[in-house]
Amino acid sequence: MFPETRLRRLRGSKPLRDMLQETRLTVQNLIYPIFVQEGAARRVAVDSMPGVYRLSPDLLVEEVDAACRQGILAVLLFGVPETKDEAASSAYDDQGIVQQAVRLLKARFPDLVVITDVCLCEYTSHGHCGVVRDGRIDNDASLPLLAQTALSHARAGADIVAPSDMMDGRVRAIRDKLDFNGFSGVAILSYAAKFASAFYGPFREAAGSMPTFGDRRTYQMNPANRREALQETLDDLEEGADMVIVKPALAYLDLVREIRDAVLCPVAAYNVSGEYSLVKAAAAQGWVDERQIVLEILTGIKRAGADLIITYHARDAASWLNE
Ligand code: PBG
Repeated sequence: MFPETRLRRLRGSKPLRDMLQETRLTVQNLIYPIFVQEGAARRVAVDSMPGVYRLSPDLLVEEVDAACRQGILAVLLFGVPETKDEAASSAYDDQGIVQQAVRLLKARFPDLVVITDVCLCEYTSHGHCGVVRDGRIDNDASLPLLAQTALSHARAGADIVAPSDMMDGRVRAIRDKLDFNGFSGVAILSYAAKFASAFYGPFREAAGSMPTFGDRRTYQMNPANRREALQETLDDLEEGADMVIVKPALAYLDLVREIRDAVLCPVAAYNVSGEYSLVKAAAAQGWVDERQIVLEILTGIKRAGADLIITYHARDAASWLNE
């Protein structure tokens, strides 16, 4: 009790504060998401996400080279295909944009951990994450397409596939498909607790994946549900997920903590597009200090229990952490 106890004693100098810091952000735990599109020398700015671009494969290589030099170990690839159809055929085309990108990156950077987002929304004409039948998203009809997509990413050389569609049973379908085809070594990072969130708005501009009708609330979770997030997570682990994602991060830090405490596998948090854009917009106005805000946000996500953080701030954060 005060006056014997004075917690300020241990905050009195920078060495003391550094020595006693409980949570430490490291570049090795960051996953850098990148959008890749067809073409050459193409670098298309995403208006709602300053600093984020859709890159053609040649420029992707340059970007990843720079990220690797900063000590970033893993990237998460999203494809922006040239063509879309009802069956999302460009998602599981071995010559698809993500497949090309994976082959290129694995050839150039053999040690890079290449993670691919497995979903149909960027590849379907209607922008939903599954197959549409009679105006509804058909869960079971979507599973083979998702599994086929994961397999084609694995064939291209992906180390980890990350299903983000939120169909029931997709993790099992993907695990079975991978194992049956000789890819038992490819890991699954499942978007287990993924909420129907307004924070994905800027991403949908970046990836061109806005649904043409309805919304994603019949498959993504209700933001108000905590127990269900745990159930989704345990379910995915039972189906064969190696690691799980909580998404978005900031409005869901309670779940990052709860899931971290409930499971043994690594837990990732996705610091999503809307969270990024809010920071960039305020920083551009000079209302917040971008560097301090970003490091505080990422430290908060880590303190909440995330082992890995997927963030568009990865390269900036790496450059600050490396100083
Ligand atoms: C694909 C997918 C989305 C995100 C990751 N994978 C969009 C969505 O579900 O609508 C969002 C990522 C972000 O906002 O940064 N289903």
